[in-house]
Amino acid sequence: MRTLIRGGTVVNPSGPQPADVLIDGETIAGVLSPEVAAELTADEVIDAAGCYVIPGGVDAHTHMQMPFGGTTASDTFETGTAAAAWGGTTTIIDFAIQTPGEVVPECLERWHQKAAGVCAIDYSFHMILGGVEDESLKAMDYLIEHEGVSSFKLFMAYPGVYYSDDGQILRAMQQAAGNGAVIMMHAENGIAIDVLAAQAAARGDTAPLYHGLTRPAALEAEATHRAIALAEVAGGTPLYIVHMSASEALAEVSAARSRGANVFAETCPQYLYLTLEDQLGAPGFEGAKWVCSTPLRSKHEPHARDLWRGLRTDDLAVVSTDHCPFCFKDQKEMGRGDFRKIPNGIGGVEHRMQLIYQGVADGQLSLARWVETCATTPARMFGLYPRKGVIAPGSDADVVVYDPAGATTLSVATHHMNMDYSGYEGREVAGSVRTVLSRGSRVIDGGRFLGRAGHGKYQPRGLSSYLR
Ligand code: URP
Ligand code: ZN
Ligand code: ZN
Repeated sequence: MRTLIRGGTVVNPSGPQPADVLIDGETIAGVLSPEVAAELTADEVIDAAGCYVIPGGVDAHTHMQMPFGGTTASDTFETGTAAAAWGGTTTIIDFAIQTPGEVVPECLERWHQKAAGVCAIDYSFHMILGGVEDESLKAMDYLIEHEGVSSFKLFMAYPGVYYSDDGQILRAMQQAAGNGAVIMMHAENGIAIDVLAAQAAARGDTAPLYHGLTRPAALEAEATHRAIALAEVAGGTPLYIVHMSASEALAEVSAARSRGANVFAETCPQYLYLTLEDQLGAPGFEGAKWVCSTPLRSKHEPHARDLWRGLRTDDLAVVSTDHCPFCFKDQKEMGRGDFRKIPNGIGGVEHRMQLIYQGVADGQLSLARWVETCATTPARMFGLYPRKGVIAPGSDADVVVYDPAGATTLSVATHHMNMDYSGYEGREVAGSVRTVLSRGSRVIDGGRFLGRAGHGKYQPRGLSSYLR
């Protein structure tokens, strides 16, 4: 079947251009000047007049049904991928998890079983290495060669859960220097944080706000610095710092990049819009809704301003969501009386494309950087490009028609994520998602979900485009 998207403005990282997009089956067949396309016939025509036509979003950091903090993230692969589609994301890269002593390929297989046959959009996996030991290091090579998994997340936080010490981190980075993997790092000094958190609890400072106050920016910056140093010692392993929230941590990345280190970072919408005081510090236990790590930062410090600047300058390469939703009732409530027991995570997979488009409307980002940070660079970073992340002949027909004239109000009453609250309740963002195609099939159109559980396919990945 041939579909023609007519009359829109195609936005790629090279910038916007008036063009029509011809789709043949699951693939983009051509990006054509409207004059040339006028001669064409197609089985279906999508009118995109007045709209942006962009590559489907690639969310490189989600945790569907992740077991964490004594409970399980509330979106399944089915509900979470459908919600992602509603917001214009057409690929997620989720995390399979290995804990100490577990056999890595068996863990990956477990995650395949969770996702197979239920996803509305395409999906892929990174691997969390919770137990860095001889066997799991060897398994990195196997996953790259045979399973299409080329990125591995390590944690400098969460001692006793996923934490790796510096020796383990160095060993994994040395392995990655040899096999071409990207090391993704949760960069917070978890040992020091646990001391501060225990001291706060002992004082009786148990409200959600103390989650943020016991994870100071200095400990994100220190861990970021240490991760960069270890990657350099390991021989220039590509290092990707996840969910960056603090100016001080960003400064470490900027300095490393200025001296030529192969270091990258992502941030997430929550760090651009939400704050320690207004959300985490909400009265009573309400702030639990926004307990995540790294934490929301103070509005009296320049974190959000610096993160937007980092996105403009490419010191921040990617916007992902770190979508890890928990319901308030029964899940966040586990931490009433002790912030350390609140499951860490915020849901947002549905809203990323729109929240970052709001940055375009506000003059923070160009259209080209919107597309680049939310689709193209994550695809390149994690070995999905040019299949994903660009509107170009030969690429998968993952396409979003975005209407900048519309407006969308984010609310638990209208969102599709499996959460009983919205982290952005009542916030209005510019534009609306009109049509979403996943490999040529309409998933969202005119406010209706036309997708299907099981349409989404596993996407094996190659090595990063950013290897040297
Ligand atoms: O609070 C967070 N970020 N939860 C998800 C797990 C992680 O560290 O990414
Ligand atoms: Zn993390
Ligand atoms: Zn995460």
